[in-house]
Amino acid sequence: MTATPDAKPLKGLFIRTHGCQMNVYDSERIRDVLKPLGYAPVDAPEGADLVVINTCHIREKATEKVYSELGRLKQMKLASGGKMTIAVAGCVAQAEGAEIIRRQPAVDLVLGPQAYHKLPEMIARASRAVGDRLETEFDTIEKFDALPKTRDPDGPAAFVSVQEGCDKFCTFCVVPYTRGAEMSRSVDDIVAEVRDLAAKGVREVTLLGQNVNAFHGAAPRLEGGADWTLGQLVRHLSKIGGIERIRYTTSHPRDMDADLIAAHGDTAAMMPFLHLPVQSGSDRILKAMNRGHTADHYRDIIARVRKARPDIALATDFIVGFPGESDADFEATMQLARDVGYAIAYSFKYSARPGTPATGMHGHLSEDVKDARLQALQSLLRDQQTAFNQSCIGRTIPVLVTGKGRNPGQMHGRSPYLQAVHFEGTETQLGALVDVQILAASLNSLSGDLVRVRETAA
Ligand code: SAH
Ligand code: SF4
Ligand code: F3S
Repeated sequence: MTATPDAKPLKGLFIRTHGCQMNVYDSERIRDVLKPLGYAPVDAPEGADLVVINTCHIREKATEKVYSELGRLKQMKLASGGKMTIAVAGCVAQAEGAEIIRRQPAVDLVLGPQAYHKLPEMIARASRAVGDRLETEFDTIEKFDALPKTRDPDGPAAFVSVQEGCDKFCTFCVVPYTRGAEMSRSVDDIVAEVRDLAAKGVREVTLLGQNVNAFHGAAPRLEGGADWTLGQLVRHLSKIGGIERIRYTTSHPRDMDADLIAAHGDTAAMMPFLHLPVQSGSDRILKAMNRGHTADHYRDIIARVRKARPDIALATDFIVGFPGESDADFEATMQLARDVGYAIAYSFKYSARPGTPATGMHGHLSEDVKDARLQALQSLLRDQQTAFNQSCIGRTIPVLVTGKGRNPGQMHGRSPYLQAVHFEGTETQLGALVDVQILAASLNSLSGDLVRVRETAA
């Protein structure tokens, strides 16, 4: 260990992340918060001083996974003579709170998504066995203010959380309860974070929010005026030196405004990819879900986005088997998928979540019906994904090099359409933008020949 006079000995930190990109971002920030306390990341929970499970509550399976994982950690804690501290963070922590400690007493700390900046204080309290082991207050602004101002990015692509929480209350969804009310960070705060990342070689940022296009952050202090929209933010960030690519996820159809759509056509850094969850193609089901849009409203948005950016790759989320979904409703979902043609889509069986209105609705469907519908939809979506990838064969496309492949000389990166791309290259290209001529495509990736390095890594 290096010997600065007040350096603390390194302690092993293991973080397991479940759920969405927001949790991936949060886990990174948890690492940043704990670094000054001498915690350094380790690859496995065995022997770690602190294990953080960053949890997801979105479907029943995700939640149950947490308890089986905690059971395994308890054994490791016993083997360590009780030296391991176990913290449960994220959305299950928010939803279940102290119930987690009751169900698994080996858990030392429980902290919700808006409380992880308090982790150092909570660890100190736990080690003295005094005070609360639970923090589930909502104060998103306080959290962002308290987080370290600099980050250690893992590579040339980084997530930046710009908006959190949700006020939409879709009837199936726990997010408004686990993440709290919609809140946006200020433009100044976001710009400072993106500048810091750019200075450390980040080329691509993905702006995150549960409803990222509902963004309404305070305008820059020097400019004043009304809150900014996501379109304004994207245009502004695209001017930061080094930032070549901007993405955002996840959006809601109701917040897809004209300026954001226009930015897809007129802002070079805006990547041709849009994840716009639709959930269902049936107006009756969309209404029961409280989505606030019809299938045709969604089709209209897609048409306008395609007009602004004809090559845009479209992504979505579907839920099959929502209570009361008939064969005809499901067929409307299949038809919407056929009409749009997705580059990639995520589909889930409806899962009844405690405390959400849909749980109390009539017409819950059997697992068999849900399974059959999911299989039919996923088969269509797999064909669409393969077809989209194959449509890239023969094209030369810019690839941001994000990592080394398994064998020497193999590199991989991501296309503007968020596909994984494999090619023969060298490690010196890590972090650079290169042109690759695409020669082959499969369901999950593209491969091709390196044509040229566009720019060297910063
Ligand atoms: N904010 C995003 C989605 C967040 S949750 C949006 O508005 O669409 C991610 C996805 O999980 C959702 O799009 C939905 O498809 C799925 N999901 C949410 N709750 C679910 C539930 N109870 N059962 C099955 N899937 C669910
Ligand atoms: Fe959940 Fe709906 Fe909010 Fe998305 S918009 S996070 S699905 S409540
Ligand atoms: Fe899961 Fe929470 Fe994200 S419930 S999907 S981790 S916002």
